[in-house]
Amino acid sequence: MKYDPRGENNTSGADSGVTGSQLAGPLGRRRRVGDRMMIPTEDETLHWLITDDGSRTLIDDAVDQSYHSASGAIAESLHVYLRNSQALRRLGNGQPTRLLEVGFGTGTNMILTAAMARARSTPLEYVGLDQRWLPPSLLSQLDWGQATDKALAMHPELAADLPPHFPLEVARVQEQFLRHWSAGWSHSVAENRRELGVRPGLPAAATALLAGDSLPEASSVVSLHIPVSHRVQVTVLRMDVATLGASRNLPSELFDGIYFDPFSPDKNPDVWTTDVLRAMRRLVTSTGRLTSYCVRRTVRDALRDVGFSPQCVPGPPGGKRQVLLAIPTIGLLP
Ligand SMILES: C[S@@+](CC[C@H](N)C(=O)[O-])C[C@H]1O[C@@H](n2cnc3c(N)ncnc32)[C@H](O)[C@@H]1O
Repeated sequence: MKYDPRGENNTSGADSGVTGSQLAGPLGRRRRVGDRMMIPTEDETLHWLITDDGSRTLIDDAVDQSYHSASGAIAESLHVYLRNSQALRRLGNGQPTRLLEVGFGTGTNMILTAAMARARSTPLEYVGLDQRWLPPSLLSQLDWGQATDKALAMHPELAADLPPHFPLEVARVQEQFLRHWSAGWSHSVAENRRELGVRPGLPAAATALLAGDSLPEASSVVSLHIPVSHRVQVTVLRMDVATLGASRNLPSELFDGIYFDPFSPDKNPDVWTTDVLRAMRRLVTSTGRLTSYCVRRTVRDALRDVGFSPQCVPGPPGGKRQVLLAIPTIGLLP
């Protein structure tokens, strides 16, 4: 049986799957789960899974969840996040774009997005939120340039609208990312701890999010700024996304797209609340989009309650049958 943490093989669109207990096996050794290979990491609760398009994703045994679809990490990222959010189209057309990611994880969605912006010289401000920072030694085991090349060869339809040298751009962005991520881990984390949340040189979207009393716990937010190029700016905030639900002063219409990618509602119930989704509605522009892998009915109902019009749209090649696209309902800014 295939490991199916995001419910790709479940035609009802629910997010059930094989549980971690079915993955149990000796730590420290490679093993197969069905026809997929699992590789141990330095952290015994994390394993690499070789997904069906050849790219890797992490399995977090503590929550029995994968960071990306086991059917293809790159395929999911390109389809569910870059394409469905229209980030791909905007960046391809040279439209300056601001994106928010909930659940930054391995940085895969960011790296692919920043590579597209770099390839087209389009201004991009990307803000990623996560409460856990993965160690650079782990992330340096990824080779996204090669993995992207392989995934695009397997699913040529994903290459539509991508420049021919896209995998090369991906490799360049990953290199930049790792350089800053390592520096951030070794000494900048404490330095970046802020009282007020505003620092000279921080891109406008990140500054607006951190300024004043937007975030209830701004004083405990740690940020890392990654200048991928002079037009492509990435800021990662280490924070609990659930706290956004309590914020009363979030800036409105800050982002053109939101990649909503926490673990499933069963594992991260505090992130899929109506309050957090209301915060998302406030942060996205009226013409923006929120995308996710999760199409659960309760999530769609909550999205509708806070002023989104949620739809189930076709999933990535070889992956989940349906994924989520939520468009703001006109005139319903909470
Ligand atoms: C599915 S993974 C994200 C994968 C990621 N988008 C990528 O490209 O690798 C889910 C992420 O959500 C994060 N997360 C879970 N609960 C959170 C919370 N309350 N606040 C912030 N991040 C959270 C986890 O630490 C994890 O990195």
